[in-house]
Amino acid sequence: MSMVDSFEKIPCEIFANTQEGSRHVADEIAAIIRERQKNNQSCVLGLATGSTPISLYVELVRMHREEGLSFKNVVTFNLDEYYPVERDAFQSYWNFMHRHLFNHIDIIPENIHIPNGELPKEQIKSHCIEYEQMIDEAGGIDLQILGIGNNGHIGFNEPGSSIFSKTRLITLDNSTRIANSREFQNIAKVPRMAITSGISTILKAHRIILMAWGFKAQIIARAVEGHVTEQVPASILQQHNNCTFILDEEAASELTRFKSPWLTGEIEWSPKMIKRAVVNMALKLNKPVLGLTTYDYNENGLGDLLVEKGDAYEINLQVFYMLRDSITGWPGGKPNAVIPNHPERSEPYPKTCIIFSPHPDDDIISMGGTFMRLHDQGHDVHVAYQTSGNIAVTDEFVTRFIDFAVGFEDLFEMDNQRSRKILDYAQKFVSTKKPNQMDTMEIRSIKGLIRRCEAKATCRYVGLKDENIHFQNLPFYETGTIEKNPMGEEDVKVTMALLRKVKPQQVYCAGDLADPHGTHRVCLDIVFESLRRIQAAGEEWVKDCWVWLYKGAWQEWDIADIEMAIPMSPDQMMKKRYGIFIHQSQKDMVPFQGSDNREFWQRAEERNGNTANLYAELGLTKYAAMEAFVRWHY
Ligand code: F6R
Repeated sequence: MSMVDSFEKIPCEIFANTQEGSRHVADEIAAIIRERQKNNQSCVLGLATGSTPISLYVELVRMHREEGLSFKNVVTFNLDEYYPVERDAFQSYWNFMHRHLFNHIDIIPENIHIPNGELPKEQIKSHCIEYEQMIDEAGGIDLQILGIGNNGHIGFNEPGSSIFSKTRLITLDNSTRIANSREFQNIAKVPRMAITSGISTILKAHRIILMAWGFKAQIIARAVEGHVTEQVPASILQQHNNCTFILDEEAASELTRFKSPWLTGEIEWSPKMIKRAVVNMALKLNKPVLGLTTYDYNENGLGDLLVEKGDAYEINLQVFYMLRDSITGWPGGKPNAVIPNHPERSEPYPKTCIIFSPHPDDDIISMGGTFMRLHDQGHDVHVAYQTSGNIAVTDEFVTRFIDFAVGFEDLFEMDNQRSRKILDYAQKFVSTKKPNQMDTMEIRSIKGLIRRCEAKATCRYVGLKDENIHFQNLPFYETGTIEKNPMGEEDVKVTMALLRKVKPQQVYCAGDLADPHGTHRVCLDIVFESLRRIQAAGEEWVKDCWVWLYKGAWQEWDIADIEMAIPMSPDQMMKKRYGIFIHQSQKDMVPFQGSDNREFWQRAEERNGNTANLYAELGLTKYAAMEAFVRWHY
């Protein structure tokens, strides 16, 4: 048994990204299907919904189209379905599965099984019993695909579900309803119940693959390394003898082999690794870094580090200086000062900087203090708003603003026939709009305009010139629905053109992988791809361009990874708060809010305050708040 195995009680395979992980799973599925075809047998798959398996289904569809993979011998059983839900509703899992997979392959419709969310309640029990019987009659599930909820649920077996549970009607956890509200206009529209395969049903599968991407790292670590407990239903998979977790690097990042690799074997002690080990130990022991002793190192699995580096106090000092040197009030570098370990260069001064903001408010929410400092310290700051953000505006805002346009024209005696017509049209559209109906192009553009005006107002509040504000309206985002397209050639072209025009020495972008809609992730990939191509073209200016990543609204960098921390005074925090307030369309339970229902300014303040507190706990000066950045090297 390797050291890793002594921590990981479920085999984990880790891939560089979602696509590679999904391809691996698709290959395994294709192999079973083909093997069964050779013997004229059927292949029974257990399938999941949610954002996780989408890339798997994309790959299976590709294999069908390009490699002739046939699904004629495939029988499927889906894990779950909302209750009650109409089969044809956009959010039903029936609809999801057809949209993403079944409509694009040659599966025989009678072989598709999805719990029925349309039945009257009194028939559900017998439906569930039948569902189990049908699985048995099909010979059991050959391969069960699972995702995992943030609370550890598999299927919709919420924490507390028994290991003996069978297919049944359950009440959804509030956290699940909030997480899944991204598919619905608002939380109130998320069904309260669901039909789900039970844990015992899942465990009967001959083979199980659980996939997880991005921000699931914490719960993955608990499921893989923690005790088996019904409180973390996925941990029960430790008892299955043929289960594998397929993870991307982000989702695997809390496993001991990555989080504390010194505990799972010999490692090379780079300065970054030393910082991570010592910072984690200090926080765990509730001690400032300079207070750690030889005893602490030995007791916490860092004896090797002591042997290699000698004295505990020397190591403490090294880490303390790294932390100290990451703090600066000069995000663009301090002009006319030679500070050897400053996170940024002092030359050139002033710098040309560009902040890429995935949505129209990420700049101010996630790095508002730094944004203001860069401008106030004389740098030429540009902001690129990557997407229109139009789906996150309520209908009420649309009519309110057109009403304003009509009133404005009235006030100044302008001809307002046209705007009145538009108001009539919008009022009619909004009042007859079905729950999940897509907005028309006109309505979407008005919503985009509202957000554009808010973004512009924020830039003016910071002090930017209008010509430094760029609205990219990247096409991948403009689907009108919660599901976005993948990064496209046009997105990269538009971004390369802007970078070439601005020729920045500093680029800031959202290194946020936890965006529930995936928009931040795509926006980041677009900037990376654009920079890589410009670099490959050998353009001089890009050699001098540093990239700093901030985290979007959902997470913060691990304290040990932060390479630049910008402190904020209470006044600066207040100024940032007012900057966030300008985004009025994003206040008070916006549509598609994700899993955190606090307002954005609250999240930002808590997060920035928390970073400052952690620095203070480690023994550094206590600031009111701090924004944090990690440098990306390309
Ligand atoms: C869906 C299902 C759920 C999801 C889980 C994760 O059929 O069974 O357990 O796998 O809620 O959802 P995503 O993938 O959207 O994060």
